[in-house]
Amino acid sequence: MTTPLQPAAPPRTSRALSGIQPTGRFHWGNYFGAIRQYIDLQPGGGHQAADEAYYFIADLHALTTVRDPARLRALVHAAAVDLVALGLDPERAVLFVQSDVPEVTELTWLLMTVCPMGLLERCHAYKDKKTRGLPADAGLFTYPVLMAADILAYDATVVPVGEDQVQHIEVCRDLAGTFNHLYGEVFTLPRPRLVEGGAKVPGTDGQKMSKSYENTIEVFEDLAAQKKKIMRITTDSRPMEEPKAPDDDHLYQLYALLAPEADRLRMAELYRRGGFGYGEVKKALVEAAAAFFADARARRAELESDPARIEAILAAGAAKARAKARAVLDRARRACGLDRSAPAVASGKGKP
Ligand code: TYM
Repeated sequence: MTTPLQPAAPPRTSRALSGIQPTGRFHWGNYFGAIRQYIDLQPGGGHQAADEAYYFIADLHALTTVRDPARLRALVHAAAVDLVALGLDPERAVLFVQSDVPEVTELTWLLMTVCPMGLLERCHAYKDKKTRGLPADAGLFTYPVLMAADILAYDATVVPVGEDQVQHIEVCRDLAGTFNHLYGEVFTLPRPRLVEGGAKVPGTDGQKMSKSYENTIEVFEDLAAQKKKIMRITTDSRPMEEPKAPDDDHLYQLYALLAPEADRLRMAELYRRGGFGYGEVKKALVEAAAAFFADARARRAELESDPARIEAILAAGAAKARAKARAVLDRARRACGLDRSAPAVASGKGKP
């Protein structure tokens, strides 16, 4: 007996989404962990590309650390310039500012009502501050809920990030799952996307590169200042002659991200043979970094001279993002009973 052909399920739209905080200028960790993925996932960008992509500058999250309004405004604008200079194409991806979509903050409240305190108490940004005895505000504590709303508001399926954000995406999946369980299938569950070699980029001291550790190298930093930082990267005191395992060394790991493949292989070989000084590697890293970002620096200089163009890109992006977030928020409002135009009949869902 032949089995009747099943109609094919409609292909699900893959939608990439990510956010980045404008708390300072972007560093190599941001670029190799996240921004490079944003660009690979833009529609039309080859086999890895998503069907749609939404990327935003997380100014609401940044408010938990940047308390100077003029500085915040300047950082948001600079972040948009940097992203476009690095290859984010506003014709293919929606680029916008988080606070331009107020639907997301309303959605945050809906998610907050299904979020156990314990879930947030385990989140590392808050926990780290607490263990260091630093004061934490409710903004920092509830930060993962806002991030969940950021993701769910656009029906995102894939979230390109570095390793440090994976926990937050798990929180997002938890909250979406709980809400769906209570009120029906409202939210799409997203998954994180990490890249090998870029998921945890080391800083100049070998810890994770992070503004809070003051160990960053910025993408568009003045070249002389960048050289100084690179020359100060910490190294061990083993003798020059001794062979070394390249992958265990943060200086090599940075070089491997920036150097062309043939140079990287040569450097790995040099490590394994021994008989080289770390100073040589640092000089090679200075050159590799300058060459790697040369085109982006040129594009950045051009974009900087036309601030109105960047603001127009952000306004167009906000309009598109709002339309999408509105539809999702309406769905969520209807599901939990905030929409009084729906029939006032108990659905059987929504019981505690
Ligand atoms: P933020 O602004 O701290 O970092 C932006 C992106 O850069 C990645 N990253 C790194 N990746 C590898 N190695 C590193 N050393 C490194 N440092 C930073 C981060 O993992 C991140 O992907 N909460 C987010 C912003 C956000 C968001 C969102 C992200 C708000 N809403 C919704 C995704 C989806 C944050 O603070 O990232």
